[in-house]
Amino acid sequence: MERLSAFGAFPALRMRRMRATPLLRALVRETELSVHHLVLPLFVRPGSGVVQPIGALPGHAQLSPDMAEKQATEAAELGIPAVILFGIPSRKDEIGSESYLEDGIVQQAIRRIKRALADRLVVIADVCFCEYTSHGHCGVLTDRTGRMDVDNDATLRLLGRQAVSFADAGADVVAPSGMMDGMVQAIRTALDDAGFGHVPILSYAAKYASAFYGPFREAAESAPQFGDRRSYQMDPANADEAVREVALDLQEGADVVMVKPALAYLDVIRRVKQAFGVPVAAYNVSGEYAMVKAAAQQGWIDERSVVLEILTSIRRAGADFILTYHALDVARWLA
Ligand code: PBG
Repeated sequence: MERLSAFGAFPALRMRRMRATPLLRALVRETELSVHHLVLPLFVRPGSGVVQPIGALPGHAQLSPDMAEKQATEAAELGIPAVILFGIPSRKDEIGSESYLEDGIVQQAIRRIKRALADRLVVIADVCFCEYTSHGHCGVLTDRTGRMDVDNDATLRLLGRQAVSFADAGADVVAPSGMMDGMVQAIRTALDDAGFGHVPILSYAAKYASAFYGPFREAAESAPQFGDRRSYQMDPANADEAVREVALDLQEGADVVMVKPALAYLDVIRRVKQAFGVPVAAYNVSGEYAMVKAAAQQGWIDERSVVLEILTSIRRAGADFILTYHALDVARWLA
């Protein structure tokens, strides 16, 4: 930034001149929000013809693979470049073994969507265990330290297996969200060894232990059955730590790093983008969506203006793309 004195001052300078008309404003707009910046989350569950609405995420539902294909097709037709898939398995167990079945629910959905849409849509698979474990934690448990907690390194081996299984089903990108130390390295090695060296990793690098995930846990049936996730997800009070988390994931081979949630963490998005200059994703999470929807339903805010303002702000902070439950609505508004 130049010294302020180099710019002149009122009355020679009047900021309102360039705000006077829509065309003048468009000429100097610094941030663009387009459909190309959106990723639509989808929840898949077993069955066919199933559309099971999610109470806390109005407009979203758990979908069987055929209905997920339908939704994905609509997204692609609107120009949305990518979806991210979360699975609700038919059976949960201690180690989340359904997550790496060849015919697991996400694997089925990936195959269907890729068969129908091929290169017209990027399919991202969320890699984590909380949806698949009976206890709802993001890995296998141990009480070695005298208190129940997720066993980091035992979970790494299973994460590699899950990621390879999704890649084998045709996932274009895998996105580990469990905040295990070394998860990117473990997954990179497993993918490379299995012949999937071309599959990128979108790492949930700076993921906070946030109360904004509430509606998601209803959607994915993934609430922890005891305790919370604070021994692996980050303390909302920390930002230097987010920069370290991102640095580590980049060293381990992450292709894109994510900050999550988005709206309460715009400073973190900005710092990560400035520090590393790498592709940055932001997750406009379920609670952020639910707040907007609830206020809009009451008639207290204008949904469309608020959503566009929020997403533009996330882009302005430094996010290249945004995972958002508003994706279909925004794509229609921008069309
Ligand atoms: C964990 C995961 C979560 C979300 C995405 N992946 C929830 C959690 O950590 O409990 C939350 C997304 C949202 O709230 O929209 N696999």
